[in-house]
Amino acid sequence: MDRRRFIVLGTAGSVAVLTGCGGSDGGGMAAMPPTGTAPPPADPPVSNPPPATPVTPLTVGQPLNDLVRLANTSTTPNEFAATLVAQRASKAMLPGTSTEFWTYNSMVPGPLIDVFEGDTVRIRLENQLSQETTVHWHGLPVPPAQDGNPMDPIAPGASRIYEFTLPVGSAGTYWYHPHPHEFTAEQVFRGMAGLLIVRSRTDPMPSAIEETLLVISDLRLAADGTIPANTPMDWQNGREGNYVLVNGQYQPVLTINPGQSQRWRILNATNARYLRLALTGHTMTLIGTDGGLLRSPVPGLDEILLAPAERVEVIVTASLSSPASAVLRTLPYNRGGMGMVGSSSTTIPLLTLTYTSAVTAAVALPSALNSIADLGVPTTTKRLVFSSGMGMGGMGGGMMSFLIDGKSFDPARIDLTSRVNEVEQWTIENRSSMDHPFHLHGTQFQVVSRTRSGVTATEPYLAWRDTVNVAAFETVVLNVVQHQLGKRMYHCHILEHESQGMMGVLDVVA
Ligand code: C2O
Ligand code: CU
Ligand code: CU
Repeated sequence: MDRRRFIVLGTAGSVAVLTGCGGSDGGGMAAMPPTGTAPPPADPPVSNPPPATPVTPLTVGQPLNDLVRLANTSTTPNEFAATLVAQRASKAMLPGTSTEFWTYNSMVPGPLIDVFEGDTVRIRLENQLSQETTVHWHGLPVPPAQDGNPMDPIAPGASRIYEFTLPVGSAGTYWYHPHPHEFTAEQVFRGMAGLLIVRSRTDPMPSAIEETLLVISDLRLAADGTIPANTPMDWQNGREGNYVLVNGQYQPVLTINPGQSQRWRILNATNARYLRLALTGHTMTLIGTDGGLLRSPVPGLDEILLAPAERVEVIVTASLSSPASAVLRTLPYNRGGMGMVGSSSTTIPLLTLTYTSAVTAAVALPSALNSIADLGVPTTTKRLVFSSGMGMGGMGGGMMSFLIDGKSFDPARIDLTSRVNEVEQWTIENRSSMDHPFHLHGTQFQVVSRTRSGVTATEPYLAWRDTVNVAAFETVVLNVVQHQLGKRMYHCHILEHESQGMMGVLDVVA
């Protein structure tokens, strides 16, 4: 059975319920199996996240775990070699139950890959799942054939080696996750994602500033401890879980000394949850985005919006005195969507920051961090339109489609062509009532401006990004260059939208 068709059928059912033209009252079309196919499994109640099942809360208040580092098996200088195994692994999350995750090396999140600019990275992936998979090196300038494109799947039981060299200038906060055709959303929400840091040997931040890594992921657990499949509503809005985890833990505790500054690298590894991050009683200083450090720190931020797949580096300075504490929270953010999107109305605590009584002397931040060169004047332009809407479903019912330039992803089609090393200006127009985080593979871009309701805001500082939120009915302009030949994906990083076809192929040619 065709996989996409299955997804679409599921979606059609939910739209019928939502628009009231079918419904769960028994009579409508939602109750009728589609002609000529096995009926899809009975839909769970439509809502997102699912109704607050009285689920016993996970343990809160444990000390924050450090991420487990993937060991380097190479003894050659400037070389990093390791194996990732895509495999099922069970863990006790709710009392008396066991939760089966899909993991890298039995860890949620996956192990930390910590490498330096100039390193050659050689990672073997063994696929022990029953689905095809790939590993995508999100944000890194790796050759297209090594980038885990959906066109290069690793079959169940098979393995392959990914190999690439990290150029000087690529220091930043990246991540890796699966990217198989149509299965990315599921593999990520079942646990497959990990942080990848590329370090510079000349990082300007004082070494006295300790680093903390925060991988934020979403988990939905049913009362029996299992991770349920996506509902039809999830396929439209993007899945949000009923637990937001930090390094795989629920509301853990991090300590800080009065006066101390910490450098937090934060990854939004959720499928669809927007993180509007705020730390009670504190401001944050932004020092870096996806692809590395800013030119200079941006202090005094009360909140930072981190769309799915985005990363930031922030400095948190303990400005209170012992025994204070603070809570890192995600505030409500309306990203559009149908029905109830949980995160649009709820503030969720992520982590507690507790002051110790030891005092640390303040460390001044350097005023110059990184010499980001402006990409310069573009010599060509592209325009992309993101849209979603009701397609023509069976029996007059609608099904939701998520399209770029009116098309759904086809791995065999080339949608756009760019010349290597040519500066382009891309205009991304969102004509839908939902936010979509735009992501382009293979390079980092610079946002130029954002236009909403006819008002254009010029981007206040240069930053390297590979993902940018394009809010509902917003238009974002960015400059970009691709430095390697071959096929690159661009897509919405709400993974349910990506897996349903809100993705295209860019061919970079000579
Ligand atoms: Cu993080 Cu094409 O993905
Ligand atoms: Cu990517
Ligand atoms: Cu989207």
